[in-house]
Amino acid sequence: MACISYSFKTLCLFLLFVAAASRPTNKPKVFNVRRYGSKPDGKTDNANAFTSVWKSACGRKSGSSKIYVPKGTFYLGGVEFLGPCKNPIEFIIDGTLLAPANPMDIKQDIWINFRYINDLSISGSGILDGQGEQSWPLNDCHKNPNCPKLAMNMGFAFVNNSNIKDITSLNSKIGHLNFYSVHHFNITGVTITAPGDSPNTDGIKMGFCSNIQISKTNIGTGDDCIAILSGTTNLNISNVKCGPGHGISVGSLGKNKDEKDVKDLTVRDVIFNGTSDGIRIKTWESSASKILVSNFVYENIQMIDVGNPINIDQKYCPYPPCEHEQKGESHVQIQNLKLKNIFGTSKNKMAVKLQCSKSFPCKNVELIDVNLKHNGVEGGSSTAVCENINGSASGNMVPQHCLN
Ligand SMILES: *[C@@H]1O[C@H](CO)[C@@H](O)[C@H](O)[C@H]1NC(C)=O
Ligand SMILES: *[C@@H]1O[C@H](CO)[C@@H](O)[C@H](O)[C@H]1NC(C)=O
Ligand SMILES: *[C@@H]1O[C@H](CO)[C@@H](O)[C@H](O)[C@H]1NC(C)=O
Ligand SMILES: *[C@@H]1O[C@H](CO)[C@@H](O)[C@H](O)[C@H]1NC(C)=O
Ligand SMILES: *[C@@H]1O[C@H](CO)[C@@H](O)[C@H](O)[C@H]1NC(C)=O
Repeated sequence: MACISYSFKTLCLFLLFVAAASRPTNKPKVFNVRRYGSKPDGKTDNANAFTSVWKSACGRKSGSSKIYVPKGTFYLGGVEFLGPCKNPIEFIIDGTLLAPANPMDIKQDIWINFRYINDLSISGSGILDGQGEQSWPLNDCHKNPNCPKLAMNMGFAFVNNSNIKDITSLNSKIGHLNFYSVHHFNITGVTITAPGDSPNTDGIKMGFCSNIQISKTNIGTGDDCIAILSGTTNLNISNVKCGPGHGISVGSLGKNKDEKDVKDLTVRDVIFNGTSDGIRIKTWESSASKILVSNFVYENIQMIDVGNPINIDQKYCPYPPCEHEQKGESHVQIQNLKLKNIFGTSKNKMAVKLQCSKSFPCKNVELIDVNLKHNGVEGGSSTAVCENINGSASGNMVPQHCLN
């Protein structure tokens, strides 16, 4: 503003004041990755460029930051985004982040890893493309001790008060999104996709987390849509579509000594479509840890041709022989479980399987309005099995329940 004469000086000062006052003071500074040396050509490794953008954004003292990844294909080697940051940070991804196809080119457990951060917000219409195809045939660790380490797509560890919205995670080499020691986190509008026969491509995996919401999310993979592991509490899942995949699984639990209770889980308004399992809790047959699995509510759940719609399995042992004889039955106590309005079709005749531990029988299991019809090759109507369980049933019951 040019103030040419003394008579205008007051007016000029006034206008300057208005301009300064009307500028939003908390507007984040935008860090467009294109302006920091990254190349969206699908082949230049942008790991260093992204890491240095993160450092500037995270270290900014005077206000919040917004990292922006515009449309385009950004090839990205393994990256680690470390906090703590000085201020809240937004990460907007509208482009595609492309992982190296060769698993040896990522030298960490997680391709894109966020650690020690508060107030992180990830969103955008972008895609995290794990390019897992080349890795899936190499996934044979249960029989090959020299199997290569495969990186998950994205991870959060020691992250609080944060969220991820709208992003798509595609074809991870192994699991897609991993959460470890994360508290107060929302996952919404996310899409997770991998072929139904891609091994161990879990959708969302979490352990030692609390106060988590997963909503309006669409997951189809070759393993669990959501895997809920040791130490997870206060997790709400709603409006999720799962399939293909292995369902929403709690566990497996009980194998290791340092495990913690899993409690306060609600699963509402969920559709399982063509999954091998739906509602699933699995604890190892021979278990070391004595923990509690409690206060679970599953409500308004639709099953469309699900292998095992309701499956509590306290004799989990995927690679027999197991050490049942030496170590005894599962020591995981399951209690206060409510299943309400669970309906649809089961591929297996046995639609309801409640096999609890002999040493720690399930307590207070409540079934209300369960209607699961058999729709498989065996013919005949659906059945239920109960072992070592106490509870009650009310309302509509197909199959006929087996609680005492
Ligand atoms: C994150 O939240 C947990 C649980 O509320 C708390 O123990 C931890 O100190 C928090 N971490 C940070 C960095 O604020
Ligand atoms: C999570 O969503 C709830 C509303 O459902 C909101 O109150 C809360 O602030 C959100 N938390 C985070 C960390 O985004
Ligand atoms: C989960 O839902 C329960 C009951 O509806 C509510 O009390 C709790 O605050 C919710 N927790 C989260 C993290 O959304
Ligand atoms: C279930 O999956 C089938 C096959 O992929 C699809 O055609 C159908 O629309 C899905 N149903 C729902 C309700 O999502
Ligand atoms: C069920 O509860 C009753 C009464 O508390 C008890 O006698 C019985 O042993 C329990 N059954 C199982 C399988 O826990």
